[in-house]
Amino acid sequence: MKILVTGGAGFIGSNFVRFTLDSHSEDSVVVLDKLTYAGRRENFKAFENDPRFDFIEGDICDPEAVRQAMEGCDAAINFAAETHVDRSIQEPGGFIQNNVYGTYVLLEAARDLKVGRYLQVSTDEVYGSIDEGSFTETSPLDPSSPYSASKASGDLQVSAFVHTSGIEAVITRSSNNYGPNQYPEKLIPLCILNALGEDPLPVYGDGMQVRDWLHVTDNCKAIDIVLRRGKNGEVYNIGAEDEHKNIEVVRELLRLTDRDESLIEYVKDRPGHDRRYSLDCTKTKDLGWEPEVGFETGLEQTVNWYKENEWWWQPIRSGEYRDFYERQYGKVLRTQ
Ligand code: NAD
Ligand code: TYD
Repeated sequence: MKILVTGGAGFIGSNFVRFTLDSHSEDSVVVLDKLTYAGRRENFKAFENDPRFDFIEGDICDPEAVRQAMEGCDAAINFAAETHVDRSIQEPGGFIQNNVYGTYVLLEAARDLKVGRYLQVSTDEVYGSIDEGSFTETSPLDPSSPYSASKASGDLQVSAFVHTSGIEAVITRSSNNYGPNQYPEKLIPLCILNALGEDPLPVYGDGMQVRDWLHVTDNCKAIDIVLRRGKNGEVYNIGAEDEHKNIEVVRELLRLTDRDESLIEYVKDRPGHDRRYSLDCTKTKDLGWEPEVGFETGLEQTVNWYKENEWWWQPIRSGEYRDFYERQYGKVLRTQ
């Protein structure tokens, strides 16, 4: 099978490409990626010389680029998106353009080129916050940030194309991922690098918000299974069902980096901050998937990866990211 992976230069996309090339010797992958601040050629390092891998630099909002990349593919998986909630609050426009219009361009191409299967990578954030219990795939969509609203809109378009154009498509909604190659603006890699450099670890509000942390390889395995076994038109939740309060995660990261809790700094809460995300993943487990990486082990491996791969994150910490950090946290990142 030849698979188009849009957004394959980002965190989950690049882990997915590596997983596919490693586990399906008969498959090849074409990545289409615009290389935004979050998309990096460095993420191709493990497979850049594999003859089954091809990269096209291009935008999912560009119909011509999308058609050229999708031509001859048996499947297309869309990871490409603007993904950081805080940036979506500061500047929502790019989220609407890339996550809403970009998805529409991909769906039109999938329809016209009669691609065998389209998979839209979505998020648990489309359901909004839940104080108790867990969301199933039929729970109503109730997004609360410009990011999650743009992702929900992408999902609705996929359903509309399945119904009106007869395309073969599925949607995955996963919980928070963590692991190697995650851009250090998200909680876990940000706190690892701040701890290593003895910068303060910013905790929003009271730090009692709850997230269900899923190791990226478990998400990649689930996406692979949904791609091959999922039922047309269906949505699949993917979570580790392993929930932790933010402050507990931050404390554990301090322990793993041998730093003390004086580095914790409570900062102003995120506007409209979702309190808790929680997914019921029975439907995906019924396809034969189970999460395999426990949070404790996965977190330790992730800390070690960042310790051992300074070449990967150093250019980020001394580049564009410093300006975002200053805008977001109102202070200069001490370490580079
Ligand atoms: P990321 O920010 O690390 O990477 C996004 C990638 O998309 C980058 O390579 C970027 O260059 C590319 N991109 C953005 N706009 C593009 C465009 N217009 N054309 C082509 N490429 C473009 O994101 P991630 O964390 O790897 O997330 C991947 C997908 O998974 C996203 O759709 C996101 O909504 C979803 N998701 C992420 C998480 C998470 O915890 N990271 C959880 C649930 C769902
Ligand atoms: P994040 O990694 O941005 O993912 P999401 O907002 O998509 O869940 O944030 C995870 C949680 O950590 C979320 O509740 C916000 C919180 N958070 C902080 O407390 N401090 C930070 O510096 C960041 C980036 C996030």
